[in-house]
Amino acid sequence: MELKNDLILRAARGESIERYPVWLMRQAGRILPEYRAVRSKLSGFKELVETPKFAAEVTVQPVDLLGVDAAIIFSDILVVPEAMGLEYQMLEAKGPWFEKTIRTDEGLKYAETNFDIEDRLGYVLEAIKIANKELDGRVPLIGFAGAPWTIFCYMVEGHGSKTFSESRKLLYTNPVLAHELLSRITDVTIQYLKAQAAAGAHMLQIFDSWAGILGTEQYAEFGLKYIDRIANAINEVPLTIFAKGAITSVSAIAKLKCNTIGLDWNMNSVEIRNEIGENRTLQGNLDPCVLYSSHNEIQNLTINMLDSYKSKRHIVNLGHGVYPDIDPEKVKTFIKTVKDYEIQF
Ligand code: CP3
Repeated sequence: MELKNDLILRAARGESIERYPVWLMRQAGRILPEYRAVRSKLSGFKELVETPKFAAEVTVQPVDLLGVDAAIIFSDILVVPEAMGLEYQMLEAKGPWFEKTIRTDEGLKYAETNFDIEDRLGYVLEAIKIANKELDGRVPLIGFAGAPWTIFCYMVEGHGSKTFSESRKLLYTNPVLAHELLSRITDVTIQYLKAQAAAGAHMLQIFDSWAGILGTEQYAEFGLKYIDRIANAINEVPLTIFAKGAITSVSAIAKLKCNTIGLDWNMNSVEIRNEIGENRTLQGNLDPCVLYSSHNEIQNLTINMLDSYKSKRHIVNLGHGVYPDIDPEKVKTFIKTVKDYEIQF
């Protein structure tokens, strides 16, 4: 289907754009009362993720209600470990919870790779197809997956953590097991991302939310090595790599076969642009907490960020997902400011 607005795709490929495109990580979700209304009719988050009709509905909501330049499929990175054999629950106010974990060679039986993606993750592919039908080409649809390192953290730890020390421990105590598990996650993730592109995702993003808890060398060995395999395998659509907190690895990421690098709010986009040059697009990176300030201040801080750009190769976003208690009107101010901004060069 012909896209009426393909700004993020052109920006990702480094082609000419008439204005900067804008969307928000976690835009489909709790900030919108309309999302909460759909979710409250169901048993919970998982039912929403697993019911394509509803997942597609909440995917399209931010396009209708906020005017973003892209939709992102409503799902979660945790559907991959579940498909591999580790079922998860999403506990209210607590977050993800896995009954079983993988901390020994024996645990690898919960990391299957030999299954059909359509069979276990067909509900996501179906949601992509329905969402595209409802979007009718208005904006591109982004598909996504967790990076192997971040998925590894959940499979080893079984839940969120500030330190993920069980996961990091394994890198020292059983690096062979760690590499085997990371490699298996990588194989499944490649197939899953390709299936999303085949189902209609126009762009793909890898979320490495826990990249920042590893030192530079360990992140190269246990993180980037596997992202590199994914990036080399994805040729279908533009790819974004968002490695949160990996400040000292951005130049290494810029050498991978991706179109766009996601930046968190601690990263300096001007310095990074100077370092990597013009051959990658940068995505980000306004501090999500800016959206707690006044409409005026949001406008000023957004314009400051846009004024600092020395290149058109930008996709505007926050530096991480939007926080659930942000007023949607504040989000609209951010989006309007970006859309009204005239690129000077
Ligand atoms: O709008 C979008 O960005 C698309 C949907 C999306 C969700 N999760 C929905 C969701 C995306 C892209 C994700 C990615 C994701 N999930 C990440 C990577 C991005 C990041 O934030 O660093 C991670 C680490 C997860 C795992 C996860 N899912 C956690 C830790 C939690 C609990 C914390 C929280 O935010 O509540 C979730 C739950 C989750 N995923 C919700 C949503 C909308 C909230 C659940 C609800 O509605 O009750």
